[in-house]
Amino acid sequence: MRNFTEANLTAEVVARMGKDCDPRLREVMSSLIRHMHAFVRETRLTPEEWLKGIQFLTETGKWCDDKRQEFILLSDTMGVSMLVDAIANPTAGNTTESTVLGPFFRENPPIIKNGGDISPGIAGKRVDVDCRVLSEDGKPIEGAQIDCWQASPEGGYDSQIGDGEAHNLRGRLKSDASGRFWFETVLPACYPIPDDGPVGDVLRKMGRHPWRPGHLHFWVQAPGHRQVITHLFVRGDKYLDSDVVFGVKESLIRDFGDQDRGKLTYDFRLKKAA
Ligand SMILES: [Fe+2]
Repeated sequence: MRNFTEANLTAEVVARMGKDCDPRLREVMSSLIRHMHAFVRETRLTPEEWLKGIQFLTETGKWCDDKRQEFILLSDTMGVSMLVDAIANPTAGNTTESTVLGPFFRENPPIIKNGGDISPGIAGKRVDVDCRVLSEDGKPIEGAQIDCWQASPEGGYDSQIGDGEAHNLRGRLKSDASGRFWFETVLPACYPIPDDGPVGDVLRKMGRHPWRPGHLHFWVQAPGHRQVITHLFVRGDKYLDSDVVFGVKESLIRDFGDQDRGKLTYDFRLKKAA
């Protein structure tokens, strides 16, 4: 077939996929091609705009390395990450709701014993975190693995402080026989997502701010249960209703304490594995 037109090109691109294409890949790619073409038709995209889009994606890739993930920022700020999460992890009963992973998770966090400090040497209001990991029916889960990471009271993650090499403001803990894990840290501040790259630029052009309300990240995993990737948000933060990545859920907003030394408690309830 030759002589492609606005009317017949989409069907031909979809039809080019071979017989041995994986069925799920065929489904995803067919839909992606149809939606991309529909977007171009709907907006009557000009060649200059198309090139600008290509340059934007090229630039986004160039900003990515082991400490900066500009594509996750793009997905998060366009609401795609939360949409994927909402489909994969629908709210169920009283189990802990999930939210975005975000771009600041790092492999090999420091191993922290219960009662330890995940933010040594970081100045700011100290907070005692005292949580439990429970099953859906409220039974304690022993030996759950909990990863926690956060921004400092200045609003920076470890990868943004100094040379970015120190692993701080994060740790990996294990729940005890009563499902409990506890540690000391500092109060996480609200922070702007890194906005000195192409994603920050497009946010400004769209008239959007880059801020996230203060939160602690948690990734809780236990055998026989579905893992949960989530945050606990600081109640009263001024960005709870305009989180740039759309990650806030009412059930995840918690008191961090009004006293000089804060206190955060929460029970993580995990769904049974399917
Ligand atoms: Fe975060």
